[in-house]
Amino acid sequence: MKRVTVRVPATTANLGPGFDAFGCALSLYTDVTFEETECGLEITGCDEAFTGPDNLAYTAYCAVLASLNEEVRGVKIHIDAHIPVCRGLGSSAALLVAGAMGANVLRGNKLSTQGLLNITNAMEGHPDNLAPAFYGGLTASMVDNGLPVTVNFPLHPDWEFLALIPDFDLPTTLARSVLPTELPRADAIYNISHGAMVLKALELGDEKLLRTAMQDRLHQNYRKSLIKDYDKIEALVRTTGAAFCLSGAGPTLLCITLDERLEEKLAKKLDAITEANWQMLPLHVEFQGARVISEE
Ligand code: HSE
Repeated sequence: MKRVTVRVPATTANLGPGFDAFGCALSLYTDVTFEETECGLEITGCDEAFTGPDNLAYTAYCAVLASLNEEVRGVKIHIDAHIPVCRGLGSSAALLVAGAMGANVLRGNKLSTQGLLNITNAMEGHPDNLAPAFYGGLTASMVDNGLPVTVNFPLHPDWEFLALIPDFDLPTTLARSVLPTELPRADAIYNISHGAMVLKALELGDEKLLRTAMQDRLHQNYRKSLIKDYDKIEALVRTTGAAFCLSGAGPTLLCITLDERLEEKLAKKLDAITEANWQMLPLHVEFQGARVISEE
């Protein structure tokens, strides 16, 4: 029976004002192996709670086979996840992408990456994590007539990403439930203008512009009450000159800087001002999207 292992990068979505649109792939990975069997489902490598048929890698696997009009036979799935779960670093998107790509490879690569993005976007509801997980790098996406359209944007090579990951999780459904359904026009204008500037600042390597542009009125202010230590950490990061945002729906906080010594500078102060435990994880941009790392 055929076996394939797919590697998918972590992703940070939104990048401040680009809510549900911007995303960037980062150098942290989840590997998922799929092996077809005669019958049954076996999932290993993850918490017992995620070993049933609602596992995201399996649901995406089945969705791709359904779109190909192909029968779901048995499958063994092994998950080797290094992307922390429910932390705003794209762990769910990584499983969907892995499942979609695994099924497509096992059945002869009949669908394009855009086809796989269409299927998984219908499952996830927004493409901002999925698109960079599939394509790598910095992406902006829109959904038009129900289908995602993604563009890659250039990124200056000197950016350093520092993820601050707390010891508590935040389910995306909860982080979305606190958002208002309607917004003042001024806030919409604020986000459109700041979003355009974020993309240009990331391309130019302009830290001062990025720090100003990477502010938002659509989601971060509503979500920060769910994230212990948010205001204190934001104030601390702002003293360093780095740009700051919530990573995806949180609770991870993200610093983007040209300063190679940011981690060292924050390390001295972070523990002193926070209640939760925050792990600092330096990351870089991953320019390659999801790929097959072994096939037999
Ligand atoms: N754009 C999404 C959000 C990312 O902020 O809710 C998390 O899936």
